[in-house]
Amino acid sequence: MPILTIASFKGGPGKTTLCQIIASHCAAIGLRIAVIDADPTKAMSDWHKSTYEGAAFTCVHEISERRIADLALDLDQINDLVLIDTAGFGNLAGAVAMTVADNILVPLTAGAADLNQAEETIKQAKGLASAARRQIEVRAIMNRLSRTNLTKHAEVELRSAGIPTLTSTISHRTAFGEISYSGVLPTKGPGADEVQALIAELTKIGWIPSNAPGLNQVEPS
Ligand SMILES: Nc1ncnc2c1ncn2[C@@H]1O[C@H](COP(=O)(O)OP(=O)(O)OP(=O)(O)O)[C@@H](O)[C@H]1O
Ligand SMILES: [Mg+2]
Repeated sequence: MPILTIASFKGGPGKTTLCQIIASHCAAIGLRIAVIDADPTKAMSDWHKSTYEGAAFTCVHEISERRIADLALDLDQINDLVLIDTAGFGNLAGAVAMTVADNILVPLTAGAADLNQAEETIKQAKGLASAARRQIEVRAIMNRLSRTNLTKHAEVELRSAGIPTLTSTISHRTAFGEISYSGVLPTKGPGADEVQALIAELTKIGWIPSNAPGLNQVEPS
């Protein structure tokens, strides 16, 4: 089953938020989900332990570059999807998390610095895939999107830089910003529609297994 690592060279583009969105939605549709929180800040695992209120999934904090790969492969045996949330700076644990992945998601927000970090993260992923002599798919995703000129500029730049990017985007919304302390995801409205579209696209490209009992039927709780 797929291992999906969420990575970025720069802090703060939305790795943990995307991990929370994907893990909770996939758990809500009946997939067995395991998350490895490979960030020393423990943002994902603390949230899972103390704040999250949705459908159950496994979340383990592991920052040792020596243990992450084996842990991911073990969790992969007993889950439908393993997600790895990495730290917002390049470290060896992050590189191992990228190398063990089948797929890497690189969030970015509008702006030259983020575009640059996405390019660098993608180059890093390609280098690691070559070193490991295996195929690792990489896609960027636009997060905190707002309908400004800057955003439109970033979309054009992404295309011209040849960065493979998901069609679905996640907007800048209070409902997403609140996840970190409310523990709940938007279940209706435009935010929920964006999450549905993202899950549908990830399922279509095979990054999320398509055997979920409740795929397209159950709203995330
Ligand atoms: N789509 C969004 N709309 C509104 N707020 C968002 C959105 N995505 C992320 N945020 C907020 O932006 C901040 C950074 O997001 P997040 O912690 O997910 O980034 P990160 O890449 O995991 O950061 P780090 O590199 O520090 O781990 C958080 O306060 C989060 O709530
Ligand atoms: Mg984070």
